[in-house]
Amino acid sequence: MVDQHADITLDHSFDGIQEYDNRLPNWWLFTLYGAVVFSVGYWLFYHTFGVGFTQDEAYDHEVEIAAQQQLQREMGKEVTDDSLILMTKVQAQVDAGAKIFQQKCVQCHGPQGGGDIGPNLTDDFWLHGPGPLQVYNTVMNGVLDKGMQAWKDQLGPVRVRQVVSYVLTRKGLNVPGKAPQGKPTAEWEKAAAAANPTPPADAKAPTDANAPKSGG
Ligand code: HEC
Repeated sequence: MVDQHADITLDHSFDGIQEYDNRLPNWWLFTLYGAVVFSVGYWLFYHTFGVGFTQDEAYDHEVEIAAQQQLQREMGKEVTDDSLILMTKVQAQVDAGAKIFQQKCVQCHGPQGGGDIGPNLTDDFWLHGPGPLQVYNTVMNGVLDKGMQAWKDQLGPVRVRQVVSYVLTRKGLNVPGKAPQGKPTAEWEKAAAAANPTPPADAKAPTDANAPKSGG
């Protein structure tokens, strides 16, 4: 392409270097205006209308799907601390648990879990243990002589898991309500650690190097 107009030189010079006052190239302007137009669309799509997932939302969404799939594999199996913690990450399960809590538990534990007839479930003190499995067992089997019924027949194990997952999400929220009862979490954890000492690091499975030789 032949340049039609003469080069115009700006009337300053830096160390003898002069600058042209040329029009910006079209390809450059195109990327600039393109980016401006794109940003408007981007903003509307992700932020104003929330049609698309932002990175954080996409991440949370994937974590939830993975937790849900994992949960489905574990549902038929034994309940463990891990399976209950996993459940707290699946919003649909926690929501189902919240509904059960509102129907069956609020009359004694208060609408926010702050306690009334029953203890505060959101403080750091526990009568029967803060561990997921401990909470699960308390709800399943109840504390009959203290007015907490066993829920395993009325709710069944799946709904008990849901309501327990909800209770676990309320832990530590310290909703004002009933004064603390029982032992603080730290003491429960100490007792649990004493009951199940973790094996020392050198008691791990032998590596290939010092594994007994087979045959030969
Ligand atoms: C009729 C009243 C009542 C209802 C309804 C009730 N609870 Fe309780 N709950 C209690 C009482 C009382 C205790 C304390 C037992 C004790 O003193 O050992 C308790 C204890 C607990 C604990 C143990 C707390 C700790 O400190 O270790 C959990 C967890 C719990 N309830 C969950 C639930 C859930 C979940 C529901 C609903 C499915 C529910 N409760 C319904 C009265 C109730």
